[in-house]
Amino acid sequence: MPQQNHKQALQNPIFNILSEAADELNVESYVIGGFVRDYLLKRGNPKDIDVVAVGSGIELAKKVAHKLSGNPKISVFKNFGTAMIKHGDLELEFVGARKESYDRNSRKPFVEDGTLQEDQERRDFTINALALSLNKSNFGELLDPFNGVIDLEDKIIRTPLEPGITYSDDPLRMMRAIRFATQLDFVIELKSLQAITENKERIQIVSKERIVDELNKILACPKPSIGLSLLHKTGLLDYILPELTALEGIEEIEGQRHKDNFWHTLEVVDNIAKTTENLWLRWAALLHDIGKAPTKKFHKKIGWTFHAHEFIGSKMVYKLFKRLRMPLNDKMKFVQKMVLMSSRPIVLAEEFVTDSAVRRLVFDAGDFVDDLMTLCEADITTKNPKKQKKYKNNFKMVRAKIIEVEERDHVRNFQPPISGEEIMNFFDLKPSKEIGIIKAAIKEAILEGEIPNEYEAAKEFMVQKGIKLGLTPKP
Ligand code: CTP
Repeated sequence: MPQQNHKQALQNPIFNILSEAADELNVESYVIGGFVRDYLLKRGNPKDIDVVAVGSGIELAKKVAHKLSGNPKISVFKNFGTAMIKHGDLELEFVGARKESYDRNSRKPFVEDGTLQEDQERRDFTINALALSLNKSNFGELLDPFNGVIDLEDKIIRTPLEPGITYSDDPLRMMRAIRFATQLDFVIELKSLQAITENKERIQIVSKERIVDELNKILACPKPSIGLSLLHKTGLLDYILPELTALEGIEEIEGQRHKDNFWHTLEVVDNIAKTTENLWLRWAALLHDIGKAPTKKFHKKIGWTFHAHEFIGSKMVYKLFKRLRMPLNDKMKFVQKMVLMSSRPIVLAEEFVTDSAVRRLVFDAGDFVDDLMTLCEADITTKNPKKQKKYKNNFKMVRAKIIEVEERDHVRNFQPPISGEEIMNFFDLKPSKEIGIIKAAIKEAILEGEIPNEYEAAKEFMVQKGIKLGLTPKP
């Protein structure tokens, strides 16, 4: 990566406007942070542009807004000394260079004006402290006092200051370090990792929303296990997702062992990341076994069991989402459903696959049956190649049968072919328990494959069932 000039990063006309505005105010200004990092990494075309002014960021923002066409919206955050302009698809953030020190009990900094270098050294990582000059005299020059470019080349996350200071200043950075390591496939410098471990309990002063933001970004990566195992290694995971760390370990009694469900879970998450971008399905993979810690038992005759862990796990999903202030909406319900049903297709894949078992699966999973299959396929982590092949083949068969059964029987969003009203009319009944019994029997007969999911067949079945219950058709 050439150190010299990076004018080509600043080709967008917006940078000339920024430069002119700063010049008129007689302040130095620089593009800093993610934009410069991502430009040097050739990571797409960043839309967020952070600008630091050695002077007032707010004044610079006002001047820029004045010069831009279309009267762009400017938001000023006086307390923080920052301002933001949305311009087309660009988001410009302005801040005055500052030296900061933090209150130990919150993430709020006391801010004092500073030089560019003072501002750079208070930033989180050397790769995020890179600045490009917008000043006329050295437009496009890279200012890299902490060797961020070398760290980009060496793929290393390092802090500009002693890591203990950087992380203690803002504990969210512990999660950011791990998230960047996962996104960029970088290594976190050893003393940084040690500092995170030492400061881990300070994660408690960070808001749940920010923590979940970082977790989501880790889960969205191609290999989330990089971040998850770093969260575990540093001890942060105990504070964030103790339900997961509770799964770690292998116990052995009388020569019988169970698998380590923590490391298994990480494999499942990596597997599913290869087949879906759906964040909530990735969450389901992360949480699919959490019910195993509280349900684990050893029985002399049958060995280890995790009885009803899917049910307990799905209940735990609600508590976990609530604790982390995550949405308690249909996304949460989806994750619950996936956890609750996570073993269903596996039972099918281990045995002979019958039509009626598949029909029941489709009936219960509804529109989420494909997602459920994706989860179960990701759950195959056996190292035994024969078993691996057998399970994969069986899942292929289950998938084929799902399509076949669905084309024929339409049970995915099951609507009873005979209504309660029709049953009442036919047998001249008032609302009564017989109606429910007949309706349930029709549903069962369809799921069992005794009758097709069709009106005529269902009506004939209804007549027979009613007569068996001692009812007589209305004359
Ligand atoms: N920053 C920091 N400490 C934080 C958050 C941010 O020092 N806790 C600084 C870094 O210099 C960072 C810049 O502010 O580059 C902008 O932060 P942000 O927009 O959150 O992140 P980016 O680095 O731009 O990366 P991404 O958009 O991928 O989050």
